[in-house]
Amino acid sequence: MSQTDVAALITALGGRVSLQTLLGVGPSAISNYLARGALPNRARPLICQALQERGYQIDPQSLRITALPAVKSRQVQLRRMRGASLLLIIGGGIAAYKALEVSRRLQDHGITVTGVMTKAAQQFITPLSLSALTAQKTYTDLFSLTDEAEMGHIRLARETDLVLVVPATANLMARTAQGLADDLATTLLLATTAPVIMVPAMNPAMWAHAATQANLTTLRNRGVEMIGPVAGDTACGEEGEGRMSEPEAIVTATLARLARADSTGDFVGRHALVTSGPTVEPLDAVRFISNHSSGRQGHAIATALAKRGADVTLVSGPVNIPDPPGVETVHVETAEQMLAACQAALPADIAVCTAAVADWRARDQVSGKIKKRPGTTIAPSLSLTENPDILAQLSSHPQRPELVIGFAAETNDLQANASEKLRRKGCDWIVANQVLPDETGETVFGSMQNKVSLMTGDGQEEWPMMPKTELADRLVQRIIDTIGAAHAKS
Ligand code: C5P
Repeated sequence: MSQTDVAALITALGGRVSLQTLLGVGPSAISNYLARGALPNRARPLICQALQERGYQIDPQSLRITALPAVKSRQVQLRRMRGASLLLIIGGGIAAYKALEVSRRLQDHGITVTGVMTKAAQQFITPLSLSALTAQKTYTDLFSLTDEAEMGHIRLARETDLVLVVPATANLMARTAQGLADDLATTLLLATTAPVIMVPAMNPAMWAHAATQANLTTLRNRGVEMIGPVAGDTACGEEGEGRMSEPEAIVTATLARLARADSTGDFVGRHALVTSGPTVEPLDAVRFISNHSSGRQGHAIATALAKRGADVTLVSGPVNIPDPPGVETVHVETAEQMLAACQAALPADIAVCTAAVADWRARDQVSGKIKKRPGTTIAPSLSLTENPDILAQLSSHPQRPELVIGFAAETNDLQANASEKLRRKGCDWIVANQVLPDETGETVFGSMQNKVSLMTGDGQEEWPMMPKTELADRLVQRIIDTIGAAHAKS
């Protein structure tokens, strides 16, 4: 076995946390397996079985994957998702009211939501409102005899596909990290074997406190996934990191986790690599070359892939939008860093290069600030050198992803330039858009909308103007259809 084989197995199993949970080991054990390119013998039968359950064919001796799971259609995925059930634990914070919205949105996707509320949560919203919205009994009390007769707390903890904690207060996180079982919510969190997602919300100072950060690390190491918090105004009137993520982000991440958990997503076991945002190339200690890319399109594509069950690595330049939920985001600044992060993320099944990579960087490193010279109007001349082309390098890499997609932002001769790019860079598809402002003065950079042509080896399609999120969903559907068709042929 090699490091690459171990990495491929981890990807197929749904990521490092899945392997940790499967083998009952911590993150450092996984790093060790990767570094040695070997797995302990006792892990082999477990891994074989888990991969077979995910639809892979695997050689038990070499642990080599011999056939990938068949790609399922969107209809199958949606049908299966309709059967999913979720335990929604509501903690006692002002953001509790948003949990009601989350419960409604999840049900829109056919998910059965059963509510559990802590005592403190009932100071903010009532069990009756939650029951009215979920059409299910809401559980509040560990020692309620009728509940124990009807549905014991162990059954409640086990008969769910996912546990979602909204909001996860500092207190609830601390009690869970300690393994306390002093009320129904913490007992369920201790008894469950389902994946757990927590959505923290608290005052920024409480979030930054060493105790909360230590609890966060403990919970993450045990495989608890976190959504947010994000920076912004908090209910206590202070600004900073601690504000709960918005219901839409919570629902997206939850759908992604469910798709991975029950292996029904079209992309379960697949690894997708997406680049997004601009790169920033320093000219001296304070100045840089960059561009107006907002990262919205790339981030939306990463989100859309995660929603369909893919393990997504998003390599992003500096942007002002939050990391997409359910996606591993690697933050970089320069093109060289972006290339290194992409290479480190391989192997991947799909690569979508959405980033607006700066074409040039300063040839020489300047450590301080280039000074204006008094008495002269002659500006300093800049020597530039070309940046590596990440898309071209991924397209010709020995571990080339099965499908490599580039973007082409053009100001003129859109079609001709995009076709030339398809050939020159060696990618499979180009998504081309006109970046000059339209008649209303709006540009695609930073806008919520986009209008593109899709060029594949088979021809060209004009897509109408649509929100970037919709474009992402549509592109991902095309990817699924294409990769699925390729597997059906082979
Ligand atoms: O050559 P141009 O910048 O127009 O190509 C655009 C496409 O190539 C985009 O997909 C972009 O992400 C990618 N690209 C890259 N590395 C570069 C330049 C562009 O990956 N250095």
